[in-house]
Amino acid sequence: MCGIVAYIGKKQAVPILLEGLKRLEYRGYDSAGIAVHSNKKLVLQKIAGRVSKLEELMSKEKIDSTVGIAHTRWATHGEPTDENAHPHTDCNGKIAVVHNGIIENCNALRKYLTQKGHKLRTDTDTEVIAHLIEEHYEGDLLRAVRIALSEVQGTYGVAVISLDHPREIVCARNGSPLVLGDGGNEYFVASDAAPIVPHTRQVVYLEDGELASIKDDGFTITTLEEQEIKPKIEEISWTLDKIEKGGFPHFMLKEIFEQPDTLRNAIRGRLNQTDGTTRLDGLDRHHEELERVNRIILTACGTAWHAGLIGEYMLEAMTRVPVEVEYASEFRYRSPVVDNNTILFAISQSGETSDTLAALREAKRRGATALGICNVVGSTIARETDGGVYIHAGPEIGVASTKAFTSQIMVLSLISLLMGRMRTISIEKGREIIEAIQKIPDQAAEILKLDNKIKEIASDFYKKRNFLFLGRGYNFPVALEGALKLKEISYIHAEGYPAAEMKHGPIALIDDNMPVVFIAIRDSVFEKVLSNIEEVKSRKGVVIAITTEGDKEIKSKVKYCIPIPKTIDLLTPLLTVIPLQLLAYHIAVMRGCDVDKPRNLAKSVTVE
Ligand code: AGP
Repeated sequence: MCGIVAYIGKKQAVPILLEGLKRLEYRGYDSAGIAVHSNKKLVLQKIAGRVSKLEELMSKEKIDSTVGIAHTRWATHGEPTDENAHPHTDCNGKIAVVHNGIIENCNALRKYLTQKGHKLRTDTDTEVIAHLIEEHYEGDLLRAVRIALSEVQGTYGVAVISLDHPREIVCARNGSPLVLGDGGNEYFVASDAAPIVPHTRQVVYLEDGELASIKDDGFTITTLEEQEIKPKIEEISWTLDKIEKGGFPHFMLKEIFEQPDTLRNAIRGRLNQTDGTTRLDGLDRHHEELERVNRIILTACGTAWHAGLIGEYMLEAMTRVPVEVEYASEFRYRSPVVDNNTILFAISQSGETSDTLAALREAKRRGATALGICNVVGSTIARETDGGVYIHAGPEIGVASTKAFTSQIMVLSLISLLMGRMRTISIEKGREIIEAIQKIPDQAAEILKLDNKIKEIASDFYKKRNFLFLGRGYNFPVALEGALKLKEISYIHAEGYPAAEMKHGPIALIDDNMPVVFIAIRDSVFEKVLSNIEEVKSRKGVVIAITTEGDKEIKSKVKYCIPIPKTIDLLTPLLTVIPLQLLAYHIAVMRGCDVDKPRNLAKSVTVE
């Protein structure tokens, strides 16, 4: 949520900051702003709307500057207006602040600052930070920021500049990620690495409770308690093309089409055909716990939670250990039964989702072994877990998660097999599963060839106002995910249900205006799903079915069939979801929606 970018160096800052904001816009896009030092003044421009509007505003005059901060916002406190956009300033307009996160005690701080004579001008929580810094400023910017932040409760990633310190940026982190880019004689700060990679691959990830003071000749890192920290420079491994569209009209489509490769990456070097098991380095130190535990919890939000549901089916089938899948936002606030015989897997693409992070901390506090299934290397969840498995899907920019979802499922299948082989799965069965896993990337590529056919189907349905998605067994969570994808990017109301549950309520919705998407592949529940299709048809519902290649029976019953290659039941979600991603994509495009930046959403949800 929200994106921060800052620059200090010898180059013109405004183009670097605007370019950086565009690369971060997937994090939040309801308003944007910039503050830079120019000719002994702080120049500030901000506006409600997309970064392109800010760019237009800034193109009216050339601003000569080599230091500045910028922000793209996802509103929490106060509507998305010009005034509420960041940067925010103190009473005299001398201190400018950009902030990600939420200041929980902002009402109390507002009262305190108002009593002290400060004039607060916006509805935001962030503005209090600028005034607090002003309140504590005695000539040392870093010190004033440190004292101000020690009075703040909540989460923040902040970057601050001050008129009195024309060659310094101060930034700090607590709960909202910040990355420092070290370009030798120029420095960058950003809420993730995307805007930094075009300039340098050398980065330092700030930890919670750390502040950095960045000047032309380098940077220092200290804690809120003034302890010095030796920076750990890391190298980013991915390349620029991973965060560009590469000829596709949208990131989402590019990422859907990357799935054969991302699935290959998720299994590369991890299959042990001889022993019918998997090798997962990040779990090596935990084999004893994996063998011992009598309870597994999978926690996540949104799409990652759907992956968790599929993981539950896989893990229970292969390990016979009871598995629970919990929304992280619920888990953190109830009193979960967790002990040192429990393993918790936190599943998160970004590795920064606030609820998932809090759930994992709660589980650790209660004695569980906490492991991660993350995409972003070095993310907070990846660092705070005791171990885990990266999904290696590469940067996912489209707000609607696609390739991360399939890679999460793939990794869950690898973990299930590893644990299954420790318990109930025979070597032969293990080898069979591995053979099926190896075929999946090519099978995914086959499905992508149906893109035009799916686009045609979309053209018959894009004006509908409701959709129902039904599936059973391993494909019930896929029905949920199909509905989520459609509603996120096309704003069509869609619900996912276990197919047999339909008759306990949703069947009342069915008429000739209700499209029903069935996942009706030749698996162990096929016959049952077929009966559910009949029930819909006899009420004049229009059926779209994901079917198994060569299935003539279903083709004779259903007008809109999308056939997918055959695989073993447990791996079917890896394939059945791809047509649903494409269907949602094409419908959204036909409705004129901004698929990469759907309204009200943000890629990385770092607030509660
Ligand atoms: C997916 O399309 C979503 N936009 C959203 O549900 C997402 O999956 C969820 O916020 C979790 O994010 P994470 O995987 O980064 O933790």
